[in-house]
Amino acid sequence: MNPIAMDIQRLQREIDELALITEAEPPVVTRVLFSEADLRGREFVKKLCREAGMVLRADAVGNIFARWDGTKENLAPVATGSHIDAIPNAGKYDGVVGVLGAIEAIRALKKSGYQPQRSIDLIIFTAEEPTRFGIGCIGSRLLSGVLSPEKAATFRDRDGKSLDEWRGVAHYAGSLDSVRLPKDCYAAFVELHIEQGPVLEREKTAIGIVEKIAAPSTLRMQLTGVGGHAGGTLMPGRRDALLAGAEIALAVERAVTGTGSPDTVGTTGVFRIEPGAVNSVPCRALLEIDVRDTKVATRDAALAQIEAAAKEICQRRLVTLQSERLNVDPPAVCDSALAETVADVCRQLGVSHKKMISRAYHDTLFMAQICPSTMIFIPCRGGISHRPDEFSSPEQIETGVRILTQTLAQAAG
Ligand code: GLV
Ligand code: MN
Ligand code: MN
Repeated sequence: MNPIAMDIQRLQREIDELALITEAEPPVVTRVLFSEADLRGREFVKKLCREAGMVLRADAVGNIFARWDGTKENLAPVATGSHIDAIPNAGKYDGVVGVLGAIEAIRALKKSGYQPQRSIDLIIFTAEEPTRFGIGCIGSRLLSGVLSPEKAATFRDRDGKSLDEWRGVAHYAGSLDSVRLPKDCYAAFVELHIEQGPVLEREKTAIGIVEKIAAPSTLRMQLTGVGGHAGGTLMPGRRDALLAGAEIALAVERAVTGTGSPDTVGTTGVFRIEPGAVNSVPCRALLEIDVRDTKVATRDAALAQIEAAAKEICQRRLVTLQSERLNVDPPAVCDSALAETVADVCRQLGVSHKKMISRAYHDTLFMAQICPSTMIFIPCRGGISHRPDEFSSPEQIETGVRILTQTLAQAAG
């Protein structure tokens, strides 16, 4: 197989340029769903797609589809894509490599003279990150039918603003019912992404081919105690919401480390208190707790243990608890034939590779429910992600884009 020429310097420049579109001070990247930075980022990506000759459309929730028309209209298209929204204090590669890398793959294929039989869609998914509404992959959940439009309509951000209001801000209109895609609407979906873990770097392997994506879940707990003057309120009888929350966070650690599975992980990533004044007893606390595992049984056991512990803690501390499961997802099993296609491409190009599990979740978790799907991972330095010092080298990115390019060509015929 002759390697297709690609312009890795241009791709790196584009990655660097998109990283400057951020709500934070560069090099920190923060692009929360439908923030001004997210909207500017979308415009940046759309411009590149247009320049690459792709035809754009967006659905009602703001998933963007950039299409390269194939010669055989009657064949199901293939798709690739990822996200450009970024959690607070993020880096510049998570999601972005799979979006800008796919644009480079398509430019390279076009330049080589290749003409696909199946159309190729690049999908830029809405809200892969859970920052605004506490739940991630809103775009791909709706696309795959895992999330109902009715449920999505109930989402509120921390200021009480709904998904519909935010869609209005971003100028995405229409009924959310129209977002869902039929099963097998795509012949294949392949997402390129940084690994967000240390395995590839440690094992000096260039490419990971994802066979399974770990099962994520999120709990939201709202604790209401009684506030008061930090000097005037004596310790006996206090109903401090923060102290109840702190005990719950420790219970999360206890639950996930006690399942007997090293794959169970739990993180209390959001812990906000009110009123947030040094001389005031915290009267309210909001916790968002992320629990994951490769196995559903141990993940669910940990979830139940955390919920029971929270109930006991709040009863004992006379704090009112409102607990909600925002999402409890099964793991995704990727398509073995498609994973084998990626492995074949690696072999033909002489690139080291291994099949692996993704511990992070991705839009592929939901695309796998409607079409044959897999992911191409590239190493990232120290396995670091969701931090400003996240890094993959231009060479590592180039290898990933190369494998994506050939995989798309094979899948699109
Ligand atoms: C995705 O960002 C995840 O949290 O796994
Ligand atoms: Mn992420
Ligand atoms: Mn990501």
